[in-house]
Amino acid sequence: MYFGKMISWQREGNRVSFHFEKADGRIEVFTEKIINVFAGIQSTEHRSKAIEGEKAVETPFDVSAENDEVIISTAAVTVKVHDDFKVDFYNAAGEVLCRDYRGSRRKMDRISDVMKELLLAEGHNVNGEEEDKISVIKRMEGDEAFYGLGDKTGFLNKRGYDYVMWNTDNPDPQVDSFKSLYKSIPFFITLHRDTVFGLFFDNPYRSGFDMGKESGEYYYYGVKDGNLDYYLIAGENMREVLGGYTYLTGTTPLPQRWTLGHQQSRWGYMSEAEIRSLAAKMRECRIPCDVIHLDIDYMDDYRVFTWNPDRYDSAERMMEELSKDGFKIVTIIDPGVKLDEGYPVYDEGVENGYFATTPEGEIYVNAVWPGDAVYPDFGKEEVRDWWASKQQFLLDRGVRGVWNDMNEPASFKGELPLDVVFTDEEERADHARMHNLYGHNMAKATYQGLKERDGRRPFVITRACYAGTQKYSTAWTGDNHSIWAHLQMMIPQLCNLGLSGMSFVGTDVGGFGSDCTKELMCRWVQAGSFSPLFRNHSAMGTRYQEAWQFDEETLDIYRRAVELRYHLIPYYYDLFFTGEKTGLPIMRPLVLHYEKDENARNCNGEFLIGENLLAAPVVNQGETKKMVYLPAGEWYDYWTGEKLSGETYILRDAPLGTCPLYVKAGTVLPVWPAQSYVGEKDTDTVLMLEVFPGEGEWEHFQDDGESFAYRDGVYNQYHCCLTADGMLSVKCVHGGYEKRYERVQVTCGGRIAETKMNCGNCVVKL
Ligand code: GLC
Repeated sequence: MYFGKMISWQREGNRVSFHFEKADGRIEVFTEKIINVFAGIQSTEHRSKAIEGEKAVETPFDVSAENDEVIISTAAVTVKVHDDFKVDFYNAAGEVLCRDYRGSRRKMDRISDVMKELLLAEGHNVNGEEEDKISVIKRMEGDEAFYGLGDKTGFLNKRGYDYVMWNTDNPDPQVDSFKSLYKSIPFFITLHRDTVFGLFFDNPYRSGFDMGKESGEYYYYGVKDGNLDYYLIAGENMREVLGGYTYLTGTTPLPQRWTLGHQQSRWGYMSEAEIRSLAAKMRECRIPCDVIHLDIDYMDDYRVFTWNPDRYDSAERMMEELSKDGFKIVTIIDPGVKLDEGYPVYDEGVENGYFATTPEGEIYVNAVWPGDAVYPDFGKEEVRDWWASKQQFLLDRGVRGVWNDMNEPASFKGELPLDVVFTDEEERADHARMHNLYGHNMAKATYQGLKERDGRRPFVITRACYAGTQKYSTAWTGDNHSIWAHLQMMIPQLCNLGLSGMSFVGTDVGGFGSDCTKELMCRWVQAGSFSPLFRNHSAMGTRYQEAWQFDEETLDIYRRAVELRYHLIPYYYDLFFTGEKTGLPIMRPLVLHYEKDENARNCNGEFLIGENLLAAPVVNQGETKKMVYLPAGEWYDYWTGEKLSGETYILRDAPLGTCPLYVKAGTVLPVWPAQSYVGEKDTDTVLMLEVFPGEGEWEHFQDDGESFAYRDGVYNQYHCCLTADGMLSVKCVHGGYEKRYERVQVTCGGRIAETKMNCGNCVVKL
C-alpha cells in the first residue's frame, strides 16, 4: 500500500499521528523500548487478541522535524519517519535496528504458463499466493539471524526461509518445506552482530513472512487484510526483547507442579479396563508417571462433554481410585460439536446462536470425528462463557486438565470457506479474520472455565495458537511421526516456540504417526524428558510405544530418563516461577544466553534448560558419540563430574543409555528424591541441593504447588548464593508459606552433607 508524501504530523499524548497524501498513520510510544506502528485500514484502533489490558505507559519522548524526516526518540529508541510512511529504527547509540526497504518487492520468477500446465497435469498446486493488502519490507543489513515465528518446521535460525501464518492441520510428515503448521505467532527476533530487536505483527489475518528467501536485500511481511499494526521491541539482548514481547502478550503462568511430571497418552486406549491396567503397569514397571490422557475414545460417539457408558463402568470411581495412586486424568475436547438433535450441547448452541453460520445465516456444517459437526463461535464472550461452563461436566468426574485439539479449526470436508460468519466480540467477522484466533479463543474459554470452577491453576493443552495463547494454555506440536527427522526437529521447534512466548511446550514423545523403533524411543525419551511438557503419545494403529513395549534395555533407559526428570522438577518449577515474571522460556536455544557467539546462532542439536543445564541428546540413528558445543565458561559433565572449559566443541561418548548433560560451574540445583509421582513423598522438610563449584546464585520457591495463593504472597523464596571459595548460603528472603524447610541436604562432587536450617536460613561450607 502507498501512503504518499507526508503532509503534516501532530503529537498527541503518547502518539504522533501522520497525515500522508493517500492515507494516515501513527507511531505510538508504548514504553521506552516498545514502539507501535499503526495505520487503521480496517479499524481506527488496535483490535488485539494477543494483548490484554493497557500496556502503554507514560514515557518521555522527543519529537522533532529535520529535512524531510520526523524524529521520535525515547531514551532507548529513535524512530525516523519519512514519506510513504517509511519508518527506520535506531538504538540509543545511533546503531541501526531496522530500516524500511526503499525498493519494491521482487517476487521470485517461478513458472511460465507452459510449466504451469505440466505441473497441473501431475496434480501440483500451482496457485500462487494472492496479493497482500498490507506489507512491510525491511532492508536486510546483512548480519541478521531470525528466531521465533512459533512452531514452524526446519531449523532454529529462520533466515533464508519463508512461512505462512495460517493455522493448519496437515497430517503429512512435517518437513522443512512446510509453510505453516498449527500455530500462528507473528513475532520474531532479529539478531544482528551488535544489536537485537523484535518485531510483532499483531494481525490475525493470513500473513506471509519471507526471511530473505526471495531476495538477500530485504525481509518481507505481508498480510491479506486488517490493519498495519506492528511493534518494534528493543532491548539490550534477546532476553530483554523477549521480555518486551511477553510484557505485551503475557507470560506463561506458574502451572500446578504435577503437570511437570511424565504423562502417558495414546489415541486408542479404548476402555476403563485398559486405562486401569496401563496405570498398574506404570507402577509395576516403576516408571514414574503423573498423568494419563484420554483421547477421543472416552466420549460417547465423539460428542464433546459426554462419557461413553459402555466403555467405562464409572469414570468418577476410576478417577478417584487412580488418584489415590497418584494419577491425574486429562481429557481431550475438540471444538466440533456433533450435529445431533437431542444432544444437549448441540441443542443449546442452536437455540442461542452459538455456532458459526454461512453468510446466509444457516448454521455452518463441516465434519470432524463425530461426522457432521458445527463450530462454536469462540470469538463471542457469551460463547466462551458457555464453553467455560461446560468444563464442569469434566470437573465433576474428577478430570484434572483439558486437552484442546482440532482447533485450527480442523475440518474433514475441506477448509471452512473464508466467508463463514463468526463474531469478534460484538462485531460480525468472517473466518478469514477469526481463523488464526480460533484455538486461542477456545483455550481462553477452557482456561477461564477451569479457573472459575476448579480454582486451581488450570492445565490446558492446545494445538492451535495465536500470539499470547501462553496466558491460558500449554501447547504440543501436533502430529509428528516416529521418524528421526522429527526428533531432530523437536529441538529448534520447541526453542523457537519458547522465543515466541510459549514456554510450556512439548512434542509427542516417541512420535505420533508411524512406528517407533527401540532406538528412536530411547533417544526421544532422553531428549523429551527435558521438554517442559513431557508426554508420550501415539496414534491409533501405530506400534504401541509405552516404556515397556520394546525390551528390558529400553525400559531401563526410559526409566532412567524419567527418573532424572523427576529429580529435576524443583529446578523446572523454579524456572516457571521466575518465568511468570520474566517471560523467559524453560527450554532455550544457546543463542539466548550466548548471542555474541557465532557457534550458538545456528545450534540445532542441543539446548539449555534455564541457564544452568545444557542437554545434548543424540538425535541421529546409529550415533553413539555426540559432538557437543559448550559455550563460554566452565561446565561440569553431569554424569562424570569432569570439569570442562567452554567455547569449544567436544566429542562425548553417548552409548544408547547416555544423554550428554552439562551443568554450568556455580550452579545450585534444587532436586527431589525419587518418586513415582509428584507428591508421593514429603518434599517440604528437606531442601535438597546439588552444587557445582564456582560462583553462582539461585532463587528457589516453595508453595502448595497448585493454588493461586502464591499470587497473594503465599510462598517462600530462598536465595541461594555460592561463592568461589565454597561457601553456600541459603536465605529465606520471602516467607509467606506455612511449611518451611527444616534441613538442607547438599550434594557436591559425590559428597553429601546435611545441615539444620534456622527459619529457612543456613550457611554450608562445601
Ligand atoms: C489429532 C491430534 C492427536 C489425537 C487425534 C485423535 O490428530 O493431533 O493428538 O490423538 O487427533 O484425537
